[in-house]
Amino acid sequence: MGRKKIVAGNWKMNTNLDEAISLISDIKTGSNHSSQIEKIIFAPFPFLKTAVDNLATETNFFVGAQNCSEHIKGAYTGEVSAEMLSSIACDFVLVGHSERRTFFKETDGQLILKIQHALNNNLKVIFCFGEHLEERKHGQHFDTVKLQLENVLKSFSEEQLKNIYLAYEPVWAIGTGETATPEQAQEMHAYIRRIVSHLFSEVTAQNLPILYGGSCNAQNASELFSCADVDGGLIGGASLKADDFCKIISSF
Ligand code: 13P
Repeated sequence: MGRKKIVAGNWKMNTNLDEAISLISDIKTGSNHSSQIEKIIFAPFPFLKTAVDNLATETNFFVGAQNCSEHIKGAYTGEVSAEMLSSIACDFVLVGHSERRTFFKETDGQLILKIQHALNNNLKVIFCFGEHLEERKHGQHFDTVKLQLENVLKSFSEEQLKNIYLAYEPVWAIGTGETATPEQAQEMHAYIRRIVSHLFSEVTAQNLPILYGGSCNAQNASELFSCADVDGGLIGGASLKADDFCKIISSF
């Protein structure tokens, strides 16, 4: 049985409402031949409901938030709860993105709470992790990734893992134009699958989607996606151009 193939676009803090609407419309038109690929749009909070409404009748199209609060509800000015996201029929939430870890100092403990609230509200999670350049240079990338995975995933059951996808995003490749080679991606993805197998089971590891993120674009997507353990991509910059994003969706 083959695993799902997935292409997700993380728009980060980009687009205004008009741009978001036309980007969604262009992506819809440009990808209508790829119904078997799971497509996820991680739009900014203010445009999530619009994205949900505009994609409601599409096959295999989902909407995700780029973050959710570690708190359930209450006096946390400016925060957005998992329940709020669920109430607008959002499907996914991103947790652990390196920009959240770096700029907002999110810790493993906070990531665990965010995932718990997301799962409790029937949201699926894409859990992101990946090593810094210095760690790779010193040959510590496997140990870093192992710790990032173990520290968080050990709080969840095998059943819960069915609603968590993984995204390996080496920090040195994010927004830099420098991408992992297919060999580097495959080597790490196979390693991630082994860790999941040890933490849970071989069956769960084999069924788990693992996405690659970090300067994945219309030119390099097909060689990355042809790797046995790469099940798709989490796309930043190239997800803001409908043509490029649709080419990536067609890259399997
Ligand atoms: P880029 O594709 O712009 O490198 O961003 C990757 C990313 O951070 C996706 O979450």
